Amino acid sequence: MKYLVILFVCIFNTLAYNYKPVILLHGILTGPESMELIKSRIEEKHPGTIVYNIEQFGGWSSLENMWYQVQQISQYISNITIKHPEGVHFVGYSQGALLGRTILQANPNHRILRYISLSGPQAGQYGTQFLHLYFPGLALETAFELFYSRVGQHTSVGNYWNDPYHNKLYLSYSQYLPFVNNELESNKSDQFKQGLSKLDMLVLIGGPDDNVITPWQSSQFGYYNKNGTVVDLKDRDIYQQDSIGLKTLYEKKKLKIITVPGINHFMWHLNVSICDNYILPYLN
Ligand SMILES: *[C@@H]1O[C@H](CO)[C@@H](O)[C@H](O)[C@H]1NC(C)=O
Ligand SMILES: *[C@@H]1O[C@H](CO)[C@@H](O)[C@H](O)[C@H]1NC(C)=O
Ligand SMILES: *[C@@H]1O[C@H](CO)[C@@H](O)[C@H](O)[C@H]1NC(C)=O
Ligand SMILES: *[C@@H]1O[C@H](CO)[C@@H](O)[C@H](O)[C@H]1NC(C)=O
Repeated sequence: MKYLVILFVCIFNTLAYNYKPVILLHGILTGPESMELIKSRIEEKHPGTIVYNIEQFGGWSSLENMWYQVQQISQYISNITIKHPEGVHFVGYSQGALLGRTILQANPNHRILRYISLSGPQAGQYGTQFLHLYFPGLALETAFELFYSRVGQHTSVGNYWNDPYHNKLYLSYSQYLPFVNNELESNKSDQFKQGLSKLDMLVLIGGPDDNVITPWQSSQFGYYNKNGTVVDLKDRDIYQQDSIGLKTLYEKKKLKIITVPGINHFMWHLNVSICDNYILPYLN
C-alpha cells in the first residue's frame, strides 16, 4: 500500500510537472485580461502548467517608451525564471510580441526555451489602420515628423514606427527598432544576436488579413523596401546577413514561420483554434 501511494505520487508529479511554465505578455492598450483565453486553454489542455500572465504596462502605460518597458518587465521575468531552472516558454501578442523578443535579446542569459510571437510588428509598422486606432489625427505621410523626434521617441509606437520613405530619419532618430534588429551596430549588437540565437524554438505567427500590423509580413520579419514593395524575411538583409540569428535558427530547424489567413488582428489571441493549432503544440 505504501509503495502504491509512492508510485501514485511519482506519477502525479511527472504528469503535473511535465509542462514547462509559460509567460504571457499582452498587447498595446490592453492588459492581462486580454490573454485569459490563452491562459485558460493552456491550463485546460496542459494540466499542471504554471502560467504567468504579465500585468505590467496595461492600458495607457503600454504607450511608454519600449526600452523602459523592456527594462521593467525583464526584472519581473528574471524573478520568475530564477524559480524555474528547467526553463520556461514565452508567448507575446502584438506589441507584446516585440517587447518579449527584445527582452530575450537584452538578457542573453535568459532561460526562455521557446518564444512564440503572435502577430507582432517585428520589423516595424507603417500603416493607417494602426495609426488611426491610437493617433486618430495623424496622417500616414507626416507621422514620421512626430515619431522621429525626441517627443515621439517617448512613445512605444514611435520606437517601432518604420517609415520606408524616410529611412534615414528612422535610422537617425529611432532609439529602438534599428538597434534591436541590428540595422545599426552598437555595443549590444552581439548580445542582441546571442539572446535570440540560443532559443530552442522561435515561432512567428501572422497572416494577410491582420489589418493592423502593416505590412502584415512584419509579423514574420518581412518589410517594405525603399520603394514600398514588401520583401519577405528570407530576401532581407536581417536574414541573409544573419544579423540577429534568424538564419542560424532556421538552419537548425528552430524557426517556424506560420501564416494563417482569415484572422483579424484582434482575434489572434481570442480564437481557440489558433491557440490549439499554433500555440499549444509548441508548449510541451
Ligand atoms: C524581484 O524580486 C526582488 C527580490 O525578491 C524584489 O525586490 C523585486 O521587487 C522583484 N521585482 C519585480 C519586478 O517583481
Ligand atoms: C555602450 O554604449 C552606450 C551608449 O553609447 C554607453 O553609454 C555605454 O557605456 C557603452 N557600454 C560599454 C560597455 O561600452
Ligand atoms: C521596387 O523594388 C523591387 C525590389 O528591389 C524591384 O524589383 C522593383 O522593380 C521596384 N519597383 C519600382 C516601382 O521601383
Ligand atoms: C478562428 O481561426 C480559424 C482558423 O484557425 C478560422 O477558420 C476561424 O474563422 C476563426 N474564427 C474567428 C471568429 O475568427
